[in-house]
Amino acid sequence: MSSNRRFEGRSVIVTGAGSGIGEATARAFAAEGGLVTIAELDGDKGRAVCDAIVADGGKARFVETDATDEASVRAMVEAACAAHGPVRHAFNNVGAAKLGSLEELSLEDWNWTVQISLTSTFLAMKHEIPVMKANGGGTIVNTASMSGRIFTPSAPASYSAAKAGVIHLSHYASCTYARDNIRVNSVLPGLTATPQIASMFTLEQQAEVASHHQMIHRCVQPSEIAAAVLFLSSDEAAMITGRGIEISGGGAHAS
Ligand SMILES: NC(=O)c1ccc[n+]([C@@H]2O[C@H](COP(=O)([O-])OP(=O)(O)OC[C@H]3O[C@@H](n4cnc5c(N)ncnc54)[C@H](O)[C@@H]3O)[C@@H](O)[C@H]2O)c1
Repeated sequence: MSSNRRFEGRSVIVTGAGSGIGEATARAFAAEGGLVTIAELDGDKGRAVCDAIVADGGKARFVETDATDEASVRAMVEAACAAHGPVRHAFNNVGAAKLGSLEELSLEDWNWTVQISLTSTFLAMKHEIPVMKANGGGTIVNTASMSGRIFTPSAPASYSAAKAGVIHLSHYASCTYARDNIRVNSVLPGLTATPQIASMFTLEQQAEVASHHQMIHRCVQPSEIAAAVLFLSSDEAAMITGRGIEISGGGAHAS
């Protein structure tokens, strides 16, 4: 367990916490004393991460959540507050893509990607912000992507546009709620070694992206995204808001 306990006794929400970046970040918050709500659609994964945190001496609660459904998100925020006190930190992390060129993309797949990658971020903030406003403030970090900032050939148009939306929505919220002592930032991961990426790209394809499009020729590790999220959420980042922080090994600047 970490000796640095920046989130001791604080109520924290992590969405999509059952795998990959969300799992690593939920574990990192709990290791620093956070009271973590594991908001996850997949019950088996969510419960497994929750049990692992508790087994490690941390505090966590699993709340089955569909981040694209408003009633589910509202209930999740209420459950987080009831279990751990008013939400102080949120990491809104759910997002995904279906591959296909712009011409091939069906409207159904476009809508699915925008719902899961952008609408989920809106719904989470919509229900987290009133709690933070009423309780003296808080921090929000949303997961965007490098492909929301620059052209990434491997990412579909739907996903890139949705993640650009996450970056701007985060900035919009930061401007609106700074007066309420709420800071809002986004993280922009480069190719990160998670189960989602393993299901979409072979190891060879991942190595190709890392070596051709980054200064540092390897995939990002989920723990490296978690470290940035915890910093942005911590009091050390008290004067950082409205930023989109790239964690990508110098992504896209090398070529
Ligand atoms: N892995 C990368 O290279 C990479 C790069 C840039 C951005 N991102 C973004 O990082 C975030 C996390 O990605 P990851 O690679 O860790 O993915 P992952 O698939 O490993 O984890 C995502 C988790 O979200 C859960 N989830 C899916 N739909 C949900 C819903 N509707 N409600 C609640 N939970 C839901 C999944 O069950 C899963 O546990 C996503 O927003 C993704 O777009 C990932």
